[in-house]
Amino acid sequence: MRGNPAVGDMVAHHQLLYADLRDPVGLLRGDRSNTELAQYWPYAGAAHPVGLKAAQVDAYTALMSASQSFIADEVLDAFPLDKFRCLLDVGGGDGSFLTAAGARAPHMRLMLFDLPAVVDRARERLATKGLAERVTTVGGDFLTDTLPIGADVVSLIRIVHDHDEASVLTLFRAARRVLPAGGTLLVAEPMSGTRGAEPIGDAYFGFYLLAMGRGQPRTAREIRDLLRIAGFDRVRVLPTRRPMLARVVVARVPA
Ligand SMILES: C[S@@+](CC[C@H](N)C(=O)[O-])C[C@H]1O[C@@H](n2cnc3c(N)ncnc32)[C@H](O)[C@@H]1O
Repeated sequence: MRGNPAVGDMVAHHQLLYADLRDPVGLLRGDRSNTELAQYWPYAGAAHPVGLKAAQVDAYTALMSASQSFIADEVLDAFPLDKFRCLLDVGGGDGSFLTAAGARAPHMRLMLFDLPAVVDRARERLATKGLAERVTTVGGDFLTDTLPIGADVVSLIRIVHDHDEASVLTLFRAARRVLPAGGTLLVAEPMSGTRGAEPIGDAYFGFYLLAMGRGQPRTAREIRDLLRIAGFDRVRVLPTRRPMLARVVVARVPA
């Protein structure tokens, strides 16, 4: 923990979950709104998430950025991206995953889509990394706006579990529309039913997302089924070193 300050940040923000867990029965009944975690992740309950301001997105964006230090390598080791021309990271936060992916594949063009206030943070961070010219950033709502065209691989890192089934299908179809035939969609997040990690994948994430007010942990099989419904084929679940942190599912737009 001393060597990786992001672990401390992750632990510290759990005071919000513990506050919400003072009434677990209320959470299970669905009686609770405006929980601490719902305030921390305001897009989960926002009717118009594009209107969120910097002060509302900065805390979670910083936490996501810091914790990419234990996610990006898991994902990129499981599914190296160097054979692709252009990566679009949807819900890409401040660009931390893109930065890691771009470092491993220097030829690859990079695009990021997130809420406008988060994209402002991404632009600042990418500029400090010397990537301002290499990355195209687009702000909007990924459930209602069109994603940018041009990528042959789209990533959804720790995104799907935030959403109900209808929104996941909307998101998968939006990605499919902008990918070429043969293009790839990569989904990575902690998943339910992960052998040896059931307490974190099911119990912990189940309660966490309940307190946040939206979404659910899903098994790799449930994600695979949703990908097929959205029109993808060749769905594969790839092993990661630490599956309790992230598992990877990739799928292809039929050629
Ligand atoms: C749990 S974070 C994951 C961030 C990043 N992918 C990572 O793993 O570090 C979810 C991201 O999705 C973005 N997001 C949520 N709802 C969105 C929406 N409707 N349109 C665009 N971005 C959205 C959030 O701003 C946030 O950056």
